[in-house]
Amino acid sequence: MIDQRRLPAALEVITLHTHMEVAEAILNMIVRGAPAIGAAAGFGLALAANESRAQSSSRFFSDLESAAKILKASRPTAVNLAWALDRVLRVAHAATGSVEDLRVLVLDEAQRIADEDVAVNKRMGEHGAALIDDGDTIIHHCNTGALAVVDWGTALGVIRTAHEQGKRVHVLVDETRPRLQGSRLTAWELGQYGIPYEIISDNMAGYFLRTGQVQKVLFGADRIAANGDVANKIGTYMLALAAHDNGVPVYSVAPTSSIDLTLSEGSLIFIEERDPDEVLAIQFHGERVAPEGAKARNPAFDVTPNRLITAIVTENGIVKPPFDVNLSKIKRITIKQQYQKKTKTL
Ligand code: MRU
Repeated sequence: MIDQRRLPAALEVITLHTHMEVAEAILNMIVRGAPAIGAAAGFGLALAANESRAQSSSRFFSDLESAAKILKASRPTAVNLAWALDRVLRVAHAATGSVEDLRVLVLDEAQRIADEDVAVNKRMGEHGAALIDDGDTIIHHCNTGALAVVDWGTALGVIRTAHEQGKRVHVLVDETRPRLQGSRLTAWELGQYGIPYEIISDNMAGYFLRTGQVQKVLFGADRIAANGDVANKIGTYMLALAAHDNGVPVYSVAPTSSIDLTLSEGSLIFIEERDPDEVLAIQFHGERVAPEGAKARNPAFDVTPNRLITAIVTENGIVKPPFDVNLSKIKRITIKQQYQKKTKTL
């Protein structure tokens, strides 16, 4: 995988050999972005299957379950992580055959999740691009591009598709303190796609919205509750508030795997709190910008209430309010599609 901590200074690809290494890579944000960590965790489980010396399937499953537990705990907010692990485990549990057969099955399912993610992103791009007008200036938060998924991107994927369709778009890239996913990663990606952009610090968004220089606000999601509350990178809530106050539409772009119908509302979403040093230094490994002994808080995500969200773009279409009704509908469509695909391949 690409070591995202090193970008944009260096594009370094590293190789991981064990599920523990994958869990650490997720925790340390070598790989980050909800769908990307889901796909990585799937391969982490495939590595665990490979590492297991079990002779019996019951022993094999117990090795797999303990690896899944470690991987699941590496980052708690993005639901895609647990979603991918549960999906691989479910497929393995439903199968019969030797331990060797199960190993192959686990790897196949991890690969299927990764392959599907690319197709899902492309579909979100197509649906979402219909919302973008020629000449739009868009504020984008965090990194939701190819780096945050397996390929293409969620919110950034929508911008890429609109750009490929010939629409002239300009992106104001929130730098996204404290980890700078915007200025380090999104700007790096946009440069490669030839999409015009300018970086702004997060606290400038209100100024640009208030002065009428922005037509849309786009971001991804790490977990969407059943009522449409969206957990996403810290700062999303403030951005959505300012956009709403100025009548600018706010779109969250996320695969249906980010929708968690088990949680009725956003306040139930567990928010990861990270090392305060990420706030006390301007960059990872950077120089300290606070006095010696200063304390800091570092919640990595916040929850934007559904009333501030204009629509949620998924691979199966654009979901509008009332979200409590329409999110379950779109989830049902996805489950039906998966079932039909499965029965076709059987
Ligand atoms: O902490 P990160 O960098 O993993 O946070 C990523 C985000 O918040 C993204 O906006 C989210 O995962 C959706 S991106 C496809």
